[in-house]
Amino acid sequence: MFDLRQFAALAPDWYVRLHYHDELDSTNDEARRLAEAGAEHGTVVLCDHQTAGRGRRGASWVCEPGDGLLFSMVVRPTFPQTMWSRIALASGIGITEALNHKWAAEAQVKWPNDIYIQNRKCAGILTEAREDFVIVGIGINVMSAPSSGDARMDAVAVADVVSGQISRELVLALLLQGVLDEVEACAEGFDGQLRRLQQHCYLRGKRIRFVAHEKDFTGLVTGLNAEGALLVEVDGEAKSFSQAAEITLI
Ligand code: BTN
Repeated sequence: MFDLRQFAALAPDWYVRLHYHDELDSTNDEARRLAEAGAEHGTVVLCDHQTAGRGRRGASWVCEPGDGLLFSMVVRPTFPQTMWSRIALASGIGITEALNHKWAAEAQVKWPNDIYIQNRKCAGILTEAREDFVIVGIGINVMSAPSSGDARMDAVAVADVVSGQISRELVLALLLQGVLDEVEACAEGFDGQLRRLQQHCYLRGKRIRFVAHEKDFTGLVTGLNAEGALLVEVDGEAKSFSQAAEITLI
């Protein structure tokens, strides 16, 4: 059970913006409902169990109560929609650096929206936009990794790889602040964020196979371009991909 009193003591400013439920369909759906009813920027929905937790491209997200964190934040951007795609990348930097600063976790961003530690997935981000807000949904394995569902393969929990005191309450407090700070900075500060993203880029220098524009590609990842698209050398030619699916290492 998530300890709300402990969280309130750790992060009083976040506690007042937190909507906690034992069980929900999906925290992204509940955050969307709250946003449609006028919830403020920075409102957070957290639950211990989701009956319809989802990942990107129709995957499910499974997490046993007590193992990890399932939460979503309402973001009301003050910058143009053309820049909203930066929000997911900025959230990834916020998560990665929060884990690295506090626990030296050596977390990396597997472009675009996964967080990896020691070659295994630790967290995933699902952003969903409506006309005037974006929901940033985050699932992270904290105490132990799932043993079933789509997230089972090659999954790791933060507690598996770091030493030092760790609790879901502390991780949530750090991640919320890390994510919000980066999201709010991404209109003006995206160049700096990209430089940090390149440093934490799990795929950089690796050969990958992936699907884009309904075609299969194989190539060497050389980095990210100025808008955060993945740069891949395919058959000797430099190409950029703003979206790609099913990225696997070769
Ligand atoms: C992915 O790896 O494909 C993204 C996973 C995102 C899962 C989180 S859990 C909290 C929030 N609610 C959902 O239904 N999904 C996101």
